[in-house]
Amino acid sequence: MAATTTAPVKRKIIIDTDPGQDDAAAIMMAFGSPDELEVLGLCAVAGNVPLSYTSRNLRIVCELCGKPDAPVYEGALKPLFRPQVTAEHVHGKTGLDGAVLPEPTMKAREQHAVDFIIETLMTEPEGTVTLCTLGPLTNIATALEKEPRIAPRVKELVMMGGGFFEGGNITPAAEFNIYVDPHAAKQVFAAGIPIVMMPLDVTHQLLTTKSRVEKIAALGTRPGDVLVEWLAFFERFDIEKYGSDGGPLHDPSVIAYLLKPELFTGRHCNVEIEVDSPLTVGMTVVDWWGVTDRAKNATVMRKVDADGFFALLTERVGKL
Ligand code: BDR
Ligand code: CA
Repeated sequence: MAATTTAPVKRKIIIDTDPGQDDAAAIMMAFGSPDELEVLGLCAVAGNVPLSYTSRNLRIVCELCGKPDAPVYEGALKPLFRPQVTAEHVHGKTGLDGAVLPEPTMKAREQHAVDFIIETLMTEPEGTVTLCTLGPLTNIATALEKEPRIAPRVKELVMMGGGFFEGGNITPAAEFNIYVDPHAAKQVFAAGIPIVMMPLDVTHQLLTTKSRVEKIAALGTRPGDVLVEWLAFFERFDIEKYGSDGGPLHDPSVIAYLLKPELFTGRHCNVEIEVDSPLTVGMTVVDWWGVTDRAKNATVMRKVDADGFFALLTERVGKL
């Protein structure tokens, strides 16, 4: 009997993002992995810069990746309850400073990102859609609020957010994505969705060192060259802050996990979000040592094979 081969099942993903140069790197990695990932849609959220810029930037990245027909949706204009906080001091005025690119010609779809997320989760088979969040969790929390039946339908939510052993990056206690909308984060962590969390503890190991960036430059492709320009801009703030060789490349850790989970190690534990304390608002309180009986609600990553990660990133950007 002739052997039959079946095509590997692609993972269906929704990317929720606030580009951001490191968000851009994550999106490039996803589009460079068509054998493993099917990008159902990309949702912009206010975060690093206001929504008008994150939507624009998202469309610029799609066009750079040769995906002008990618379904892009616009979501939340501001956090659930707190005033908007942005990070132009890191990402530049547009959020994507560092490379000169044409304004996008593709448009965002009419449908609101929250409704797209709900509709997709309610129509795709249960347990088949993975949410990849690279920014504040406002869109996801709003979707959960509007249609709670989506929670058990999510396969997994893989997020860049939080920090524990490493502390915070926007305050001593809080990481930017969680700090911007802690109420949204609290709702997401309480939703019963299987969560994988990429905190600063992991992303601070992913440094854009000279030799790693040279390998991206050596691709000699337009997307590779633009990424190198973006990284040069993005890393300057953190190099000065941390005195490190290169800056931490946060958001692509989410996509790398989908492609090669063996690059990461972590622990399943309880994570709670501080929303009240003026001193520590946005802190991700991780019960790493299991000192409470609070239910485990997230797999918190702590270590990563950084060279393996950069080899994967470079390979996938090279496929664009
Ligand atoms: C996170 O905040 C943003 O500045 C980055 O894009 C990343 O998602 C890191 O704290
Ligand atoms: Ca981001």
